[in-house]
Amino acid sequence: MSTLITNIAELVTNSPEHAARGAAGSAGFGALSDAALVIEDAYVAWCGPASKAPAADRVVDAGGRAVLPGFVDSHSHLVFAGERSAEFADRMASRPYRPGGIAATVAATRGASDAQLRAGVRRLAAEMLRQGTTTFECKSGYGLTVADERRSVRLAAEVTDEVTFLGAHVVPPECGGDIDAYLALVCGEMLTACAPYARWVDVFCERGAFDADQARTVLAAGRDAGLIPRVHACQLGPGPGVQVAVEVGAASADHCTYLSSADVAALASSGTVATLLPGAEFCTRQPYPDARRLLGAGVVVALASDCNPGSSFTSSMAFCIALAVREMRMTTQEAVWAATVGGARALRRTDVGHLARGARADLILFDAPSHAYLAYRPGVPQVA
Ligand code: NIG
Ligand code: FE
Repeated sequence: MSTLITNIAELVTNSPEHAARGAAGSAGFGALSDAALVIEDAYVAWCGPASKAPAADRVVDAGGRAVLPGFVDSHSHLVFAGERSAEFADRMASRPYRPGGIAATVAATRGASDAQLRAGVRRLAAEMLRQGTTTFECKSGYGLTVADERRSVRLAAEVTDEVTFLGAHVVPPECGGDIDAYLALVCGEMLTACAPYARWVDVFCERGAFDADQARTVLAAGRDAGLIPRVHACQLGPGPGVQVAVEVGAASADHCTYLSSADVAALASSGTVATLLPGAEFCTRQPYPDARRLLGAGVVVALASDCNPGSSFTSSMAFCIALAVREMRMTTQEAVWAATVGGARALRRTDVGHLARGARADLILFDAPSHAYLAYRPGVPQVA
């Protein structure tokens, strides 16, 4: 069964061959106008000018809409119970964000049944899909006991292949500040219980969470268990997170809100993606990361939601794109590229984030004539 989608005003393929030559700041973004696309067996079999489209079993008229690759959200924390709207409201009225709020979500998560947690994860996954996210990563990190982390990764694995073990989120209150004892648990019994469900290992490398050596210990143990590192780095202040991420060959350093020149240089000369999470800066009222500095240095930049109840309770990649364009001065092309190919790079995937021949046909039929409307009409649901 083949499907032809035709009458596409703008088809964002992200193919280098469709990139506008010499367009400043457009990174790898590529698009065709007056285009068509053929899907066969869930993969893109052909794309090109509508006038040259081959015949297919079924024809869908896009009606002059844009078609984009589905968003690839490479950073989310969907397995949790409870909510922290009061903390958010206080913060807007001036209290600063503190990572200690994580403990409230940990307590609620431990107290929830599997069915309650599963319902929450599924609700958020469905919410993401409705907004155009077709691939997403999901972390544990609100259980912080062997049993609660194991069920977190198990429930995450029911909704995505991109599961991350984040036992090293913070040291839970019952450890009384004994970081070494908790690290031994994370790198031992907890990792053994979680690794079969996960692809990735993550650590919150930040003052108030884990320092550089502790982060190295967690990532090395994860790697020995077959997991690939990614790091929460430099979110709340300058620190060693990015250097550790680059040193261990992490797929991604996430947040990158407070970077030194050495951090930017290290990212630029590495295969580590800088994943920016502007929903977190919005929700914590922090300064936005300096995307222009990273792009100017040649760093690969991804955009993701960081969807979690404490620091960024949005599942909307469109909102993140709008923030990246308005507040971080990314071009509309750069922001869409970062939310599609960038996310795919951060997850080391080549089958998603673009719509060239051979890609998964994960696409958004967008109720507007161009990708620019993502930032031009912020807050408006436009996924047709
Ligand atoms: O990515 N930084 C650590 N973890 C989350 C925040 C979690 C929370 O506040 O509940 C983040 O922002
Ligand atoms: Fe996060």
